Amino acid sequence: SPSSRVSLTVNGTRRTVTVDNRTSLLDLLREHLGLTGSKKGCNAGACGACTVLVDGHRVNACLTLAVRLEGTEVTTIEGLADGGELHPLQQAFIDQDAFQCGYCTPGQIVSGVGCVQEGHTGSPEEIREWMSGNICRCGCYVKIVRAVEQTAG
Ligand code: FES
Repeated sequence: SPSSRVSLTVNGTRRTVTVDNRTSLLDLLREHLGLTGSKKGCNAGACGACTVLVDGHRVNACLTLAVRLEGTEVTTIEGLADGGELHPLQQAFIDQDAFQCGYCTPGQIVSGVGCVQEGHTGSPEEIREWMSGNICRCGCYVKIVRAVEQTAG
């Protein structure tokens, strides 16, 4: 099937890859670039485990075609820490004990960063609403919201 070359910036590094035109951003990250932090939960836009930022906006990487991302900047969970220093929301997840099995955590954290950057942190209810695309089977929602609140200050 047809393939295309796409150049994009991932976590600050310019990458050029040739992919089948049907390849999702999630498969590009996981299979082609070896960035397995973004998780494949449902692969259908329903769980949020694959959440990444494209030009600062949250997207479900499983629903996004890689070939449409020419020239964009993608940030994944691997790109949030600054050298050895965790992103404040990563630290907040530890402080608030905001995970159990951890499978949804990368998506939750990237989504939470988007939530903070977009300014949707006025109340716990607002945070919960704007992160409603991120499902946690362990039911850590109260602590996840606390972690986002901690980061929003
Ligand atoms: Fe993308 Fe579930 S894996 S939303």
